[in-house]
Amino acid sequence: MNRNTVVLTGAGISAESGLRTFSASDGLWEECHIEDIATPEGFVRGPNLVHQFYNDRRRKLTEVKPNAAHTALAEFEARCKGNFLLVTQNIDDLHERAGSRQLVHMHGELLKMFCLHCDSHFEITDDLNVTSICLNCQRSSGLRPDIVWFGEMPYHMARIESALAECALFVSIGTSGNVYPAAGFVQLARRAGAECVELNLERSAGSDYFDHAHYGSATIVVPEFFA
Ligand code: APR
Ligand code: ZN
Repeated sequence: MNRNTVVLTGAGISAESGLRTFSASDGLWEECHIEDIATPEGFVRGPNLVHQFYNDRRRKLTEVKPNAAHTALAEFEARCKGNFLLVTQNIDDLHERAGSRQLVHMHGELLKMFCLHCDSHFEITDDLNVTSICLNCQRSSGLRPDIVWFGEMPYHMARIESALAECALFVSIGTSGNVYPAAGFVQLARRAGAECVELNLERSAGSDYFDHAHYGSATIVVPEFFA
């Protein structure tokens, strides 16, 4: 029997750890313009503003901890009989800190950067700015957060699509379902015959595609579902 599972997470799973979501009325995109902060063109126009935004997000990671929803997913992975893949749109490191192993960050990671001059990727814990020097090519002004911005191709798509094509269970957690391609994963999972479940505070944009839904805070509904 196929017990392969794919789980997709979004900002909602980290909300109760104290990290703000994006599209809520008090979300990050209310006070910052997406075009300035989360596009390659915005970075060319105003790199200081972009660095400041992600430096603030990165510093905030030191103040937060994984919550019961992150932990429930790591525990489910450890006892899952089939193949398991956790696909997160989140750029925080709370899933890995909770113990998740089969994990891909499709929108990049706050704790990584890369160099536009030489394409070297590095880990980063401190602030980044336009004068930061690349450890590989020694040039400045080319280092940027390793975040997938609007208009850029998400990471790990081949691995994600092949896991979706073979999954029996697809669970979407804490995502508004507005940003593609992640918002379309439920359709790929349905096509593969998977049972599709939504765990979210409220109905997402794609809620009609799911077979079941449980609405409530992630720290309640996620441990309940995976129990
Ligand atoms: N528990 C469960 N769900 C929650 C909670 C909570 N405590 N708090 C908020 N949510 C839900 C909201 O109802 C919303 O549907 O989480 C969802 C968060 O949606 P978004 O802020 O749009 O975040 P996300 O879906 O992850 O955004 C996807 O868009 O902004 C870009 O690249 C960014 O990765 C991000 C992508
Ligand atoms: Zn370089």
